[in-house]
Amino acid sequence: MLFLQISLLAVLLGGGDNKDAFQDQIFRIISTFSLYNSSWTHSWGSAWLGDLQIKSWKGKSDGFISLWPWSNGNFNKKEMKEIEVLLQRFHNEFLHLLHKHASEWMLEYPFDLQKAFGCELHSGKVKLPFWRFAYQGSELLSLQNNTWVPSPEGGTRAQQMCRLFNQYTVVNKILQWRMSNTCPRFLLGLLDAGKADLQRQVKPEAWLSTGPSPGPDHLLLVCHVSGFYPKPISVMWMRGEQAQQGSQQSGILPNADGTWYLQIFLDVEATETSGLSCRVTHSSLEGQDIILHLDRPSSKGLIILAVMLPLLLLLTGLAFWLKKRWAHCEPLPTLPLERFQQPRDSKHT
Ligand SMILES: *[C@@H]1O[C@H](CO)[C@@H](O)[C@H](O)[C@H]1NC(C)=O
Repeated sequence: MLFLQISLLAVLLGGGDNKDAFQDQIFRIISTFSLYNSSWTHSWGSAWLGDLQIKSWKGKSDGFISLWPWSNGNFNKKEMKEIEVLLQRFHNEFLHLLHKHASEWMLEYPFDLQKAFGCELHSGKVKLPFWRFAYQGSELLSLQNNTWVPSPEGGTRAQQMCRLFNQYTVVNKILQWRMSNTCPRFLLGLLDAGKADLQRQVKPEAWLSTGPSPGPDHLLLVCHVSGFYPKPISVMWMRGEQAQQGSQQSGILPNADGTWYLQIFLDVEATETSGLSCRVTHSSLEGQDIILHLDRPSSKGLIILAVMLPLLLLLTGLAFWLKKRWAHCEPLPTLPLERFQQPRDSKHT
């Protein structure tokens, strides 16, 4: 426990201005099992620090793939291997149990089972670890103080599963011990080792477009914001200084590089677009909000126009010239050789 407090202190002190970002953090491992029939299973998993995926693995023995250089936190290779072997063993034994008790637990093929476990830092303190199961997307059971407890929506299926799981008292004690010791230690190590990436600030890019028309004389305006990190952001459609109530936000979706993307939609009458703007507020912008005005072309638009216009004129000219030349060549024989001879012939005449 002393070790925990010391490393927590180190993380918080080392965090500088952004230490608040580390006050609440969740580390979790998520696994999904798809059981198609009594002998065919597909399973995969991932490990997450908050919204950031740090590891993935597929199937039975492909091993764990680290997605960041610091995905092992401050654990050495040996310690990491030990944990991976333990997780893999638990994974296999759990699958075996599911197949064995499928009919008793009324698990009807094909079905999905999900498992999530991990630990949580809350206001800078380590909270109790969690371990939960879901069947076909709804809560089934969870581990609380060494005991498996059925969720209300789990019904008799959950009660039966808990009854069996609770017979493994030694296994449950080991799991609980691992979860309340190893997990928080791993989480704190991650926060420290990944500090540079976790505390990075990446500025968003924003642009406007129109979506499919929502009805006659209406426009769907879309404000796109992409490439920002961390995730918290505020994007609003404004008219002057007035936030527009009717706007709708998409989910915040992940980009492949770990940054985020979202869209804000506004349905307006086609004649009512004057004075509209999209306003983006994000920690990386340090108070300098991005404001895109609908009725003023952005400087980027002007640059594109400045480059495109001469190019367009040039292409039009070229097309015109080619067309004229094509028309001129048309009466000539198609064999290239004869075409080359043509000017000489004309000289002689
Ligand atoms: C299980 O499903 C797989 C894939 O659909 C199939 O190849 C296999 O024959 C099935 N096995 C049984 C026992 O039904």
